[in-house]
Amino acid sequence: MPDIESLLKEKRVFKPSPEFSRQANWNRKTVAEYRKLGSTNPTRFWAKMAKEHVSWFTPWKKVLDWKPPFAKWFVGAKLNVSYNCLDRHLEGENAWRRNKAAIIWEGEPGDSRVITYAQLHREVCKFANVLKGLGVKKGDRVALYMPMIPELAVAMLACTRIGAPHSIVFGGFSADSLRDRINDAGAVVVITADGGYRRGSSFALKPMVDKAVEGADCVEHVVVVKRTGETTGMMSPRDVWWHDLMANASPKCPAAKLDAEHPLFILYTSGTTGKPKGILHTTGGYLVHVATTAKAIFDLKDEDVFWCSADIGWITGHSYVIYGPLANGATTVMYEGVPTHPGPDRWWSIIERWGVSVFYTAPTAIRTFIRLGDQHPKKHDLSSLRLLGTVGEPINPEAWIWYHRVIGGRKCPIVDTWWQTETGGIMITPLPGAVATKPGSATLAFPGIDAEVLSEEGDPTKPPGGGFLAIRKPWPGMLRGIWGDNQRYAETYWSKWKNIYFAGDGAHREKDGYFWIMGRVDDVMNISGHRIGTMEVESALVSHQLVAEAAVVGRPDEITGTAIVAFVTVRVGTKTDVDLVDTLRNHVTKEIGAIAKPKEIRFTDALPKTRSGKIMRRLLRDIASGKDTVGDTTTLEDYSVLAALRESDDG
Ligand code: WTA
Repeated sequence: MPDIESLLKEKRVFKPSPEFSRQANWNRKTVAEYRKLGSTNPTRFWAKMAKEHVSWFTPWKKVLDWKPPFAKWFVGAKLNVSYNCLDRHLEGENAWRRNKAAIIWEGEPGDSRVITYAQLHREVCKFANVLKGLGVKKGDRVALYMPMIPELAVAMLACTRIGAPHSIVFGGFSADSLRDRINDAGAVVVITADGGYRRGSSFALKPMVDKAVEGADCVEHVVVVKRTGETTGMMSPRDVWWHDLMANASPKCPAAKLDAEHPLFILYTSGTTGKPKGILHTTGGYLVHVATTAKAIFDLKDEDVFWCSADIGWITGHSYVIYGPLANGATTVMYEGVPTHPGPDRWWSIIERWGVSVFYTAPTAIRTFIRLGDQHPKKHDLSSLRLLGTVGEPINPEAWIWYHRVIGGRKCPIVDTWWQTETGGIMITPLPGAVATKPGSATLAFPGIDAEVLSEEGDPTKPPGGGFLAIRKPWPGMLRGIWGDNQRYAETYWSKWKNIYFAGDGAHREKDGYFWIMGRVDDVMNISGHRIGTMEVESALVSHQLVAEAAVVGRPDEITGTAIVAFVTVRVGTKTDVDLVDTLRNHVTKEIGAIAKPKEIRFTDALPKTRSGKIMRRLLRDIASGKDTVGDTTTLEDYSVLAALRESDDG
């Protein structure tokens, strides 16, 4: 068993090869220099990056204005993100990029489109004019609920061109979730498609939007891309077809000169309450952060074909499918469907056919492929790959080694990158030409980022040791707030310690300073790399008429990292059978979306609680993962007994 053999070697250190280091955008010398500058004078370091990686219409007066917990970066500067991702690649010495592929897109049914920088620029200008024609003004919010099709990229860039912050809602969220997000952001336009393709068949999106918009009075128009051709009721004058509007749109639209702190986008993410948080990112700092990290960590060169497999509905897709790569003039791959359609080798076939050279994916996907077997990647020539990356959850060393061996052919460095929706860009990561990697460790903080592992009291942990992951100084890509809720922003991220950012993750630090991320320490679960709050699922469950009470916990899962387990007490007289399990699972899907569907539902007469009425989650987590807590706790009837036992223990 080769995987067992690899397991035994998991303590190995992988040094960057001399060949890779020699050609790296950032070699050892650069990294050493930047680390020094980044720790002694982080604002000077970021100002240097800002000049190198971003084009500005007006320079800044001050790099950072920090009035904790509120930061302003590049104060007084003006720029435009779509100008940085498009126009500047068509001008002067970069003009040769006009005909370079900006986006290589592949639909699930096998259709594909290659869009050059000049073409993408034209489409974006046209759609920016469409938005203006619909009455969208600078500062207005636009909601996007779309499949992974090129029009999604066009819509995002068009929003940034006119300064209308976008709010992208992942297509897997339900109509109810979409409505909440539209209302919270006060979006005036929703952009969607009739449907998309997944697992070999089409699914409808527009009916979900219809349902969502019924209860969202702020929405004036719904723009619909024709993708699947499913029949869709168009409500005039609210609903308009993308192709009708584009047919007459002018391809000339100057990029708005926006303030560096102008809102760029809102992206909702789960927190520890039932209500998702609208994470706000702004223009200048975010772009500096993602452009710099994409160039340094993914070592992007003009010849590269970069593929980040994340859906654009998540932060990883925002930062590293679209903004980071395009700001660098790179070629970025977008794929519409599931990894296993029509066969388990679809991804490897994409890598072979398009010559992908840098590939960035999630551990959960890697674990799925390990289970499907080595024969699928082995059918394909993956020799175009030169660098691999992972994100979203801790990667177990077996998966790391498999990725290195089977996908990377033992020659590709792996960058395990830690970051969050809130951080905007990558924070802890290897630099592939300079940092030795250890399977399972995200290694060291990016230059200019002051990451530390702290105790409850805020003291740095003496390595080796564990604690809470914290960022001690502001950074350019940091969230600027929670949309409409400054108080929650201050409380969630800045109240554990004074003026220090609390990430919500536990981490361990070795003597060599390497970070090992241990996972969430709050009531947020990480399902296949997606954040779901336990409270969100609980409120969805108790909104069902037959449910009296619910407690939700995560338990370890071989593929998805964590699986959702719900403990439910029902109203008196309700039959707790498999039908009810189905009903409740579907109810959660309806309320939140399929990603939040509990894997398991267990009925119980009572939930174990402390005297103050707090649900004893640790106990439930132990029970859900089959661990022995106090004696034999595997039978459901024992909960109340157990709770009583625990209470007497505590007291
Ligand atoms: C987890 C995704 C371990 C972590 C970019 C974090 C990771 C949450 C890693 C953010 C990693 C992300 N190793 N854990 N390399 N990357 N995480 O907001 O728990 O969807 O807090 O952003 O994912 O998830 P989010």
